[in-house]
Parts: sequence; structure tokens; C-alpha cells
Amino acid sequence: MKMLEQFAFGTLATRNRIVRSATAESLCTLDGQPSAPLAEIYRTLAEGEVGAIITGYAYALADGKPADRALGFHDDVHVRASASLVEAVHGAGAPIILQLVYGGSKSKLAKDDPRWLVPEDAREAEDGKPNATIWGPSAVANDATGIVPTPMQATDFEALASSFGRAAASAKAMGFDGVELHCAHGYLLSQFLSPRFNKRTDEYGGSITNRARLACECVRAMRQKVGDEYPLFAKLNSCDSFADPEGLEGGLSQADSLEAALLLEEAGVSCIEVSGDWHHATGKMNQGQPYFYDYACELRRRTALPLMLTGGWRDARIIESHLSADVVQLVGMSRPLIREPYLVAQWASGKMDESQCEECGICQKHGGIPCPYRQ
Ligand SMILES: Cc1cc2nc3c(=O)[nH]c(=O)nc-3n(C[C@H](O)[C@H](O)[C@H](O)COP(=O)(O)O)c2cc1C
Repeated sequence: MKMLEQFAFGTLATRNRIVRSATAESLCTLDGQPSAPLAEIYRTLAEGEVGAIITGYAYALADGKPADRALGFHDDVHVRASASLVEAVHGAGAPIILQLVYGGSKSKLAKDDPRWLVPEDAREAEDGKPNATIWGPSAVANDATGIVPTPMQATDFEALASSFGRAAASAKAMGFDGVELHCAHGYLLSQFLSPRFNKRTDEYGGSITNRARLACECVRAMRQKVGDEYPLFAKLNSCDSFADPEGLEGGLSQADSLEAALLLEEAGVSCIEVSGDWHHATGKMNQGQPYFYDYACELRRRTALPLMLTGGWRDARIIESHLSADVVQLVGMSRPLIREPYLVAQWASGKMDESQCEECGICQKHGGIPCPYRQ
């Protein structure tokens, strides 16, 4: 079966075509160190025969922490601590890829997070201003958090790119089999791509070439540190809304996303992970159909790069038929593997039952804790 075949590019060979897409399990310590239960989850997934595991988002700068109990990768102590994750996954025979992020105004700051500048009860009156070091493209308030970020300056761009470059080099040194730059889901780099958040009039705003400039600079800094063959993924929204390919409320349009993917390729990524507004897709297409396949087909017409498509895969037969079409080479799954970490092993043994994930959303609400319906 195609889905059980290896896939190799650069120095990476996945065990099969089904990759656990980045999933923040919220199981790190408050200061971002991986816990034993987190390593155990990764070991279980690897024992469940996933093709590779992409970690939950890890922050490369302390101020880029996207959520409470996310993985830190911003200093030597945290870099060294990640060895437990690499060992757990390699010990069970799978490759592991580190996802890197800068949260920005979408960061879910805990009530006692020192990055808040004003006391909790005064935040509304103060316009929700966090500590001044939370960067954004422009001072546009985030609907979800109320955070108004500080627009980035020239020296900030360099600092961000070099922190991602440093983190990629450290990931390679620690034995991670690849790195993914999170350019999706409304975090900082996704906001730069989005005209809704990016109101800049300099060379980082306006055209899609300008809006993708920062992500491309980060990719170049990472590529320069890890060499030509090391796998660099970028996770990208196919557009900023599920329902409207023009980009709901001024977000990234599908046409601009396709352009951005090509710019990221030119900058040095070796695989694009196609994602999008899966929160809105959830429940609407619960038929085992991948949400963003049409976009992937469009992207395939423009590039020969390996593509990983994430979101909505639930049925092994549908996965098999899509992989056979060879539009996408890798399939990314998150929620089904929270519920059934042994799903791939089950399919490999010939038991082809559909995933039992009902997209109830509880895993999201509670920050990645094990599925309450898990057997
Ligand atoms: C609890 C939870 C945590 C997630 N954390 C991340 C993350 O850290 N980085 C990321 O890129 N996507 C994250 N996602 C999104 C998934 O990788 C994936 O894109 C989305 O869930 C759609 O795939 P699915 O239909 O297979 O669940 C998360 C999803 C869930 C449910």
C-alpha cells in the first residue's frame, strides 16, 4: 500500500506516509521543559507506527511563547532538555521533526504570565497591552486574545531570523530529523502574510512578495545554518478562512498563499505542509475527506516540492486513493492520533476501520490532553 511506503527527501526518510502533524500537548513545565508524560506520548505514537512525528510548537525566543506549557527551545537548557523527546521517538524507530514558532498576538498568555504589562483587572481599560516585546506586523488587536502587538522594526527582523537559524542548528545538533517553521494558523509569520493583520507600508507589507519577506528571511537563516540536505518544512494556510478562498475579512487569499509557497520554496524549504482554518472546517466535512486538497492540487501544478497535506484525514481508503494520485506525498494527522495513537499500526495490520475521532473539539479546548473517549 502506498500509505505504508517510505518517503525520502534530503536526509529524511519517513517510515510511511502518515505523519503526526504538530500538536501542542500542553505537557511541558511552566517554563517550557518537556515532561516525562510528553516523552511517553511521543514514544507511544512512534510505537503506533506513525511515519514521523512533528512536535507541538516550540518557541525559539522567550517572548515568542505561544501558550502556557508549550515547548521552549530558546536557550541551551531547553535545547538540551529536548533530548528526552528525540530519544523516545528514535528509540521506537520513528523520525522526529521540531516545529518552531513565534506566537505574537495570538499567544494565549496565562493570567500570571510576566509578559502582561498591566494587571489583569486593568487590561480592558489599558487596551489589553502586553509587555512591549510581543511582536506583530502592525498594531492590530487580536480578536482572540485582545493583545495589541508592537510593530517589528528592522533590527527585530534580524533578531527573529537569527533566532530561528540558531534554533534550527541546535535542532540538527540534538538529532531532530528536520525542522518545521510555523507560518500558519494566525501566529506571527502567518500574520505577516495576512493583509488583515499586516498594514505595513514598507518592504514587509503590501504585495505578497513583501508580506512573505520575513518568513523567507527566517527560512534563509535556517537553511544557511543546517546545510542543503537537511529537511526544512513550512506549514502554511491555504487561505485564512475555510469557506471563502478570497480570504475572510481581509485575510490571506488562496492566490496569495500559492505565491507565498513558491517564495518559501525559493528561500529554501524542502516541504510545504498545507493547512488552513481547520477550526472552521471541523465537523463540516467529517467524511474522511481532507479539507485542503483542492488547494494542494493547485499548488502541485506550480511546484515539484514534496507536499504534506494536513486536516480531515480519517479513512485509510481515502488516504490510499489520494496518495496514489501523487499530488501530496505525506498525510498529516493530529486529532485522530490523540484518540487512537495506534491507528497507523492498526491500518498496517489490515484492520482498516475509520478513525473514531468525531472532531468534538475537547482536545483543543483543553490544550491537547488525551482524548476523553480514548480506549
Ligand atoms: C490539541 C491540538 C493542538 C495543536 N497544536 C498545533 C501546533 O502546535 N502546531 C500546529 O501547527 N498545529 C497544531 N494543531 C493543528 C494540527 O496540527 C492540525 O493542523 C489540525 O488539527 C487539523 O488536522 P486533524 O484534522 O488531523 O486534526 C493542533 C491541533 C490540536 C487538536
